[in-house]
Amino acid sequence: MTDPVPVITVDGPSGVGKGTLCQWLALRLGWHLLDSGALYRLTALAALHRGLALSDEAAVAAVATALDVAFLPGADEMRILLDGAEVGAVLRSEATGDAASRVAALPAVRAALLQRQRDLRRLPGLIADGRDMGTVVFPDAGLKLFLTASAAERAQRRYKQLIEKGMNANLAGLAEEIAARDARDAQRTVAPLRPATDAEMLDTTGMPIARVCEWALMLAARRLSIPVIP
Ligand code: C5P
Repeated sequence: MTDPVPVITVDGPSGVGKGTLCQWLALRLGWHLLDSGALYRLTALAALHRGLALSDEAAVAAVATALDVAFLPGADEMRILLDGAEVGAVLRSEATGDAASRVAALPAVRAALLQRQRDLRRLPGLIADGRDMGTVVFPDAGLKLFLTASAAERAQRRYKQLIEKGMNANLAGLAEEIAARDARDAQRTVAPLRPATDAEMLDTTGMPIARVCEWALMLAARRLSIPVIP
């Protein structure tokens, strides 16, 4: 039997720095990257474009199954096309994050996106960013990471990120939206946000991202026997 393609899963709540860590790890190791949140965000946008109610489980799941997306390398970040048109900043907005967490609570939508995520497991390896990567999508991953940080710090980080992207943001409103989204993600019946029993946990409150990256790389080297030069 051949060894499965190695996977590192990175789960945790909104604004915890998973995206930054995952992009860094993928670049550092030369592995593929799965941004599973983008798939839920794209599903929500596609459903809204079609005038669907986000609670219409069967219709939204059909949209998820037929999702027409392309991830293309851009100058500094990935260009994402939905139905052939670039989605741009709207994909990353808090409003789209909120819509994504509504469709993500629907079991048929999660089922529709499951195989699409697993199909991205290709050599030399995959870094998988999300909420249920270690518990549901890749339960056999060789390394599972789960990041946390205080709610106040996560709101600050998300605020900085949106401002840097030239988008409007309000810190107090953002903190409330993130709290509501986290509660929905943690309380849903399918694939709720929670660490896998064999996940490595890290509270990143007050920690520079470079230290988080070092910690992850050290674990990857040790657990997956990846030859990494510090
Ligand atoms: O990570 P991101 O903020 O892009 O995710 C948007 C929403 O998509 C999350 O709040 C969550 O509801 C949903 N999601 C999920 N499972 C994943 C990734 C994201 O339910 N693996």
